[in-house]
Amino acid sequence: MNTACITGITGQTGSYLCDLLLSKGYKVYGLKRRSSSLNTERIDHVYVDPHIDSNKLEMVYGDLADYSSLASWIGDIKPDLFFNMGAQSHVRVSFDIPEYTMDVTGTGVMRVLEAIRKNSPKTKFLTASSSEMFGSQPPPQAPACLRRRAPGPRCRLPARCERRSR
Ligand SMILES: NC(=O)c1ccc[n+]([C@@H]2O[C@H](COP(=O)([O-])OP(=O)(O)OC[C@H]3O[C@@H](n4cnc5c(N)ncnc54)[C@H](O)[C@@H]3O)[C@@H](O)[C@H]2O)c1
Repeated sequence: MNTACITGITGQTGSYLCDLLLSKGYKVYGLKRRSSSLNTERIDHVYVDPHIDSNKLEMVYGDLADYSSLASWIGDIKPDLFFNMGAQSHVRVSFDIPEYTMDVTGTGVMRVLEAIRKNSPKTKFLTASSSEMFGSQPPPQAPACLRRRAPGPRCRLPARCERRSR
């Protein structure tokens, strides 16, 4: 059976991606941050008791700021596909918590890539980015047009360089 990991599975994009992959017969593994509230409303309709063998969706606790949890998750599953939809995605809030935003949204991509390189090198990887990296430039948005307007989009740059160098 084909397997896929999704970070940010409880978010808007990750939850739709989860629906799509399940409908295509994938076994889906989702990474979820621990919090005292559940925050799983977007995927509750596909969640099944993990003790049921036919369960096609498995959730684990982890964080893009924590390399060890990413490495053991990826090393255990060795997924065919890895989708990084996790991020501190709110542009306005990125002005309030710029360091955290950089750590999760920028360095987080490097952590995932390192974990894949060391533990599951055949895994195919895709990460979300943002048109905000290009400021108000209309498409086509060539790299020369990069004009970051906020800490959030600025964090995408290391992630972009990391992807291009591999
Ligand atoms: N939705 C859009 O219109 C849009 C537009 C441009 C870019 N994007 C980008 O696409 C991606 C997904 O967007 P979205 O709208 O689904 O965002 P969202 O805010 O709905 O979901 C973000 C997900 O990331 C998770 N997350 C946050 N911090 C984390 C951490 N430290 N470790 C692990 N997971 C963490 C959240 O729990 C959530 O599940 C983001 O990178 C976002 O910036 C989205």
